[in-house]
Amino acid sequence: MAFSSEDARAKKATSNEEIVALLLEDMKGEHAAIIQYLQHAYKIGEAGGEIPSEIEGIARDEMRHFRWLGELVAELGGEPNMQRDPIFLDSPSTNDLLSLDVDAEQRAIDQYRDHIAAIDHPKVTLYLNRILMDELFHQGKFKDFVEEMGGNQAKEAASNDTGPWNKNPNPLSKDLELNSAGQVVAADLERKNRDDHPLVKMLNSRVQMEYETILIYLHQAFISRNPTQRDHLISDRAVWHMTHMGTLGEAVAELETRPEMELDFSSAFLSKVPVEPEEFNNWAIGREKSLLENTENLLEETGDIDEGLTNELKRLEGHNRFQVEQFKIEKNN
Ligand SMILES: [Fe+2]
Ligand SMILES: [Fe+2]
Ligand SMILES: [Fe+2]
Repeated sequence: MAFSSEDARAKKATSNEEIVALLLEDMKGEHAAIIQYLQHAYKIGEAGGEIPSEIEGIARDEMRHFRWLGELVAELGGEPNMQRDPIFLDSPSTNDLLSLDVDAEQRAIDQYRDHIAAIDHPKVTLYLNRILMDELFHQGKFKDFVEEMGGNQAKEAASNDTGPWNKNPNPLSKDLELNSAGQVVAADLERKNRDDHPLVKMLNSRVQMEYETILIYLHQAFISRNPTQRDHLISDRAVWHMTHMGTLGEAVAELETRPEMELDFSSAFLSKVPVEPEEFNNWAIGREKSLLENTENLLEETGDIDEGLTNELKRLEGHNRFQVEQFKIEKNN
């Protein structure tokens, strides 16, 4: 039975089922916030000085919120899903982009206030109040960023689908791409649809692979009854893959193209993964191996032409080798 925030004013959510329904809504919002903020951080890039790394810090807070909510859902007997609220990625200027984040925090603040009023459960209320405190703080930070970037805090955010992505390619850029023979050459910046660059496509398919892996590991962590497995999956795996997704996402953004962070969020992609700990471990070894293979392909294809990217990929390769072995060792313990 669905329990919406409209019912909330009428009566308190006291059954686990009712509370879970509200927490699942909150999870969707946190998931959207994580991805929207990461995308904005990548897009703003160096032009924003310290702002992108501060935004990534806020995205990490949202990740902690997401984790708390997922664990609470599982604790109350619910099934955490990995769905996501809509995200807003385009705006005419950077300060408008940041106004979209002020708005996102406002939606979160309103929703948490509603849910805190609706839920009668001391532990859940304790956590939601803590999260609300963070969201209020985040909103203040985003308002400061808007002003730092020369915008007006009070202005309504303008969102549209004709943002700077793929528009006005910078003629001074030293962007690279793969030609049909698989060689890395200077990118044809006059070309209209740059999303189909082979290099961008390769990097983006990896971004999606990392994203999917993160969601699968987090989901397993939320439902796991083994606290060690839970902790390892989050702190040792999901967090590292998050770093990798960032590395690749930034590389895509540097090519003036949007990192591809869309997945089928229905349960389809979760249902292909076994949840029994040993079977999950085997599945994860396979996944880490294919990530390693993918890194090796990327290294081969991009060669030593873009030194910065190559160094990042070599680091990734080292991480991948470690992560395969790490799962294997755990399997034997
Ligand atoms: Fe949050
Ligand atoms: Fe927030
Ligand atoms: Fe990774």
